[in-house]
Amino acid sequence: MFNSKTILMGLIGHPVEHSVSAQMHNAIYKSLGLNYVYLNFDVEKDYLKKAINGAKALNVLGFNVTIPHKTNVLNELDEFDFMANMIGAVNTIHFKDKIAKGYNTDGIGAIKAIKEKTSLKDKKVVILGAGGAARAISFQTAISGISELVILNRSLNKAKSLSYDCERILKENLEELENFKEFKPDIKINYGELDKIEEEIKDGDILINTTSVGLYPNVNQEPLAKAGILHSDLIVNDVIYNPLETRLLKEAKIAGATTISGVKMLIYQGAESFKIWTGIDAPISTMEQAVKDAMD
Ligand code: ATR
Repeated sequence: MFNSKTILMGLIGHPVEHSVSAQMHNAIYKSLGLNYVYLNFDVEKDYLKKAINGAKALNVLGFNVTIPHKTNVLNELDEFDFMANMIGAVNTIHFKDKIAKGYNTDGIGAIKAIKEKTSLKDKKVVILGAGGAARAISFQTAISGISELVILNRSLNKAKSLSYDCERILKENLEELENFKEFKPDIKINYGELDKIEEEIKDGDILINTTSVGLYPNVNQEPLAKAGILHSDLIVNDVIYNPLETRLLKEAKIAGATTISGVKMLIYQGAESFKIWTGIDAPISTMEQAVKDAMD
């Protein structure tokens, strides 16, 4: 039970009631016998500064950050790690000695999920969507050894802007990126509208859906790609974890492609955050079970 030494962790966002992060992180603490507790904090925009300062004052160890604060929270933090700085968004805060440092584990979560199935070396990756999730995943995949990145979005201007940002920011950080052994500086980055999916995935290796198409409660929404245009050499990753298997993933299975549910990305981003806060490797299967139980 909680006592005078219990360490406080949490999620800040608005709204937060649909999140399963609390179940996932509390399951880790239980399985490792850690005297921590993870709570959801519904923080409205005008209270974000107070929430961060309050967390410092109360010696909170860490926060996850979700919609709508992932970008705004940058203004309230003292330091950032390299990836959070490149992406321009934070999903994890580590408080230490009254310093709040921001990280972004969303992209690495997706990469770790994909690496369970395949290496990213010299692969062509097609990303559907150009919002916040696409941004984190684009930057992270772009430095993971792939040869080509294509960003397709309903609104072309957002795909263009993300692809230009990606190219520009990678160039600005070439010196630091020398430390990322997998990174290939000659990576090709392109963008287009969603009707380019068929053409782009013909010679594509990995397809990642970051759009909300198929997200609960719209589980019957027409998927952005059907079995007819997918192929058996593809890895198809949907960042949606509710439902665990989207219609896109069902179509991918029909095409004989390898599928990765968004639940894997959720778990790996959580595991990376946990490692930042504690230095400990998280128990992945315990987390997976906790998420599945929370969604039943
Ligand atoms: P997140 O932070 O989860 O990425 P977001 O920033 O709101 O959320 O981005 C949502 C993405 O889903 C966008 O790429 C959006 O496309 P637009 O930029 O054209 O709005 C995409 N999206 C949402 N609904 C869609 C739909 N019905 N068809 C195609 N794309 C859709």
